[in-house]
Order: sequence, then structure tokens, then C-alpha cells
Amino acid sequence: MTTIEDLSDRTFDPYAATAALQDTGVDPYLVIAELRSIGPVVKADYRTLVGLPAEPREPSQPRYSVLSHAAVDEVLNDPETFSSRSFEPTLGAVFGRILTVMDPPEHAMYRRALMQVFRPTLVRSWCAEAASQVIEELLAPILLKEQADLASEFATPYPFHVLQRILGLPHEDVEVFQKLSFTQMVKEPPFDMAMEAAVKLGNYFTALLDDRRQNPGTDLISALATLEAEGRPIPRKIVIPFLRQLMSAGAETTSRALTILFIGLLSNPEQLAAVRADRALVSPAVEEALRWDGPVIVSSRETTRDVVLEGVSIPRGALLELLFGAANRDPQVFENPDTFDVHRERHRHFGFATGIHVCIGQLLARLEMSVALNAVLDRLPNLGLDPNQPPPRVQGASMRLPSVLHVTFGRLCRCPCRVREPMHTGSVLAQLLNVSGQSSH
Ligand code: HEM
Repeated sequence: MTTIEDLSDRTFDPYAATAALQDTGVDPYLVIAELRSIGPVVKADYRTLVGLPAEPREPSQPRYSVLSHAAVDEVLNDPETFSSRSFEPTLGAVFGRILTVMDPPEHAMYRRALMQVFRPTLVRSWCAEAASQVIEELLAPILLKEQADLASEFATPYPFHVLQRILGLPHEDVEVFQKLSFTQMVKEPPFDMAMEAAVKLGNYFTALLDDRRQNPGTDLISALATLEAEGRPIPRKIVIPFLRQLMSAGAETTSRALTILFIGLLSNPEQLAAVRADRALVSPAVEEALRWDGPVIVSSRETTRDVVLEGVSIPRGALLELLFGAANRDPQVFENPDTFDVHRERHRHFGFATGIHVCIGQLLARLEMSVALNAVLDRLPNLGLDPNQPPPRVQGASMRLPSVLHVTFGRLCRCPCRVREPMHTGSVLAQLLNVSGQSSH
């Protein structure tokens, strides 16, 4: 029987460590505004400007910040000129050979194969089963109370518990898996803690893949165990890093995006009321949260040749910091870009990037967020920010981290049902997922 090993320092708290690294005291949007006043592409080191620790890179490598919607779009759609090898000393060092570090043709070969386990019909069925069960479980204790921290009690564990079910991982170890997954993203050079977590997850997945190859089930690991690329089994050195990345990218980003969605709505009660009354606004609200303050504020690429981008000459071998947080608030494209507005005219954002590396889990993330928002609106009719607590704060210079979200949701029903209003999650879920659902109350 395969077991997962905890960190040797069991007291290590990856959330606190990440918050300490990310909360540099500098508002990244102020830095972005200053850079934008210089131009759409600026020779500047964003990470230094926002106070993040230096990454393990050649210090003499020239750095450019890419800010405009048009320039970010151009870079993401030209992988020949703008290579993903920029991630090799950072994400690649921790996770291994993941899709994120690959360029064509290697990337196309593995992405095509791995996409098979993310087919829309599969993703929808995961959400119909796993997501709705997890929501029930997480909301049950919250429903017995009159206030809660919607971040730590709901949005943070939710996508992780969903992923744990999709992968078929043992429920009793869910907290260790969650801790190791989040620790992989503690980007404190030389990445000691992140490396330890990655090794422990890698050992576990290696044994699990062997087991599932012998005894296949219906979970995602069983599907990965038998997957082929161009007629040959996908090698371990690709599948294990992919699984490591899923544990972090698949859960952490979604939990942060969901918390930011709640913050956007709760800070704008008239918009919350509009979405509550008209559930056709749920999807625009999800998109607006990803545009307004998507959790991935910056990404990177490296130039493979001398190039001119938005009139700026950039040499071969330069590091480009792609500021999704700037492009998603480009005033040339979005009116009142700093405002959260679920009614705004829809326009493409880079919350999931675009081009060949566009997020593989975007459908899963969108569905998880929509299903969760609908459920919370159904179950917590009087939801509002807790007036006795400080307003929510999103920190983070390279990843957006909303750590706490104190909410109140009115009095409990006095009758034995102990709920507030009739629930209709089942029917809303069914509409969203195109499956038949049952009302649970
Ligand atoms: C709201 C939640 C999420 C956000 C904001 C997000 C964001 C992103 C972004 C911006 C990229 C592209 C980075 C780049 O190329 O520079 C990306 C790639 C990726 N994401 Fe997500 N992601 C989310 C959820 C997920 C989920 C649920 C999964 C899987 C279960 C996932 C797996 C991946 C993988 C494997 C890649 C690499 C794809 C490639 O390079 O071809 N993500 N994500």
C-alpha cells in the first residue's frame, strides 16, 4: 500500500511562508501604473521593483516588463520567438519537465496526449460528482454558524478536495497532500522546502502509477498510467512532473481565484444582488474576477532572437516578464479597468493566458468557480462582509493571495432543518453541467 510522507519539519506552514514572501509591502498595481506611464514594453525588472527575492537566474540577463494587452498577446502567440525555457531555473527546477517549460515540437506532442485526460465530458462529470459532494461537505459545518472565514473554511480546501477525488487519492491523507502541494509553490531560493515536497509527491506518484497500471480504476491517475504520445507510453519523467504541477496549479490558483471572486462581489453588494437574482451573470462574474485580479499576475518568456516588440528593441536571450495584471487592466482595451464590474462588455483577458500554453485546466476551474458561487448564493442568502472584521485584503506581487475573508450570513432558521432558505443547488448545478440533478432539500 502506497503512503504519502509528510515534510520532515511538520510544523512548516506553506501558507504563512508564501504570504511572508509575497507580501512585500508594495502594491503591484501601483508599480504597473508607473511602468505603463513609461510605455507598453519597458526595460525594467518587475520582480526587483515589487520587492520579490531574486530568482536563480544569470544576474546579467537583460529584463523587460511587458504590459500592454497587444504586446502580451503577441508574445504568447509566438512561441518560436518567445521561449518557455525561461521557467527552467524556477518551476522546472522544482516540478521537473512540465508542459510550462516546453517549447514546440516537444510541447505539442505531450500537450496533445495529456489533453485527453481533460476532455470536456470528463471534466463536466468530475464537477457534477466530485465538486458538488465537496461543496456539501464543506458547507455543512458553515451552515451551522452565522459567520465564517469563507477563504480558509471553503475556497482554499474546495478545489484541492475536488482534485483529490479526481485523482483517487486517499481521503485520510488529504491534509498532507494539500500541505505538500502548496509547499511546492514556496518560491524561496534555493527552494529547499519546495524541493522536499516535490520529491515526496514524486515518490508517492511513482508507486501509485505502478499500482494503477496493475489495478486500473476510473480515476485520472489510472488514465495517465496508460496514456501514449505518438504511439509510445508517456515517460515517467513527464507524467510525474505533470502530476506534481496539477497538485499545485490545479488547486491553489482556483482557490485564490474563487476567493477573489467572492471579494469582488462582497465589496460591491449591488453586483452581488444582481448575480443572486440573475444566475446568467455567474459566468460573467467569474470572468470579471479573473480579469480584475487573476491569481497569476506575472509569467515569463525568453527571447530566442533579437526582436522588436511595440517599438522596443529586445536582444536575444532577454527575460520578458509578462504582466497579465497589467494587460488585464489595459485602459486601451478595458473601460475603468481597475473597477470590478460584472456588467462590463466582455473582452478577452489573460487570466488563463492564451496561445499554446493556455491553461489546460481552464474548463475545470471555470466550472468549479461557477458551481461554488451558485451553491454559496443558494445556501447563504444574507451573505455579506463581516462589519466587525477588517475588510478583505489581497496581497501578493507575483501571485495574488487573498488569505482571509470574514463573512456573515444572518440568523439560522429556528426549525429543526437548521438552514436559512429553501435550497436549490441541485437544479442550478444541473443547468450548468447539462446533467439531471435533484434538489437536495
Ligand atoms: C482559476 C484557476 C487557474 C488559473 C488562474 C490558471 C492560470 C494558468 C495560466 C496563466 C497558465 C499559463 C502560464 C503561462 O504559459 O505563462 C496556466 C497553465 C497551466 N495550468 Fe492553469 N490555471 C488555473 C487552474 C488550473 C487547473 C484547475 C489545472 C489542472 C487541474 C491547471 C493546470 C495547468 C497546466 C498543466 C498548465 C500548463 C499548460 C501548458 O503549458 O501547456 N490550471 N494556468
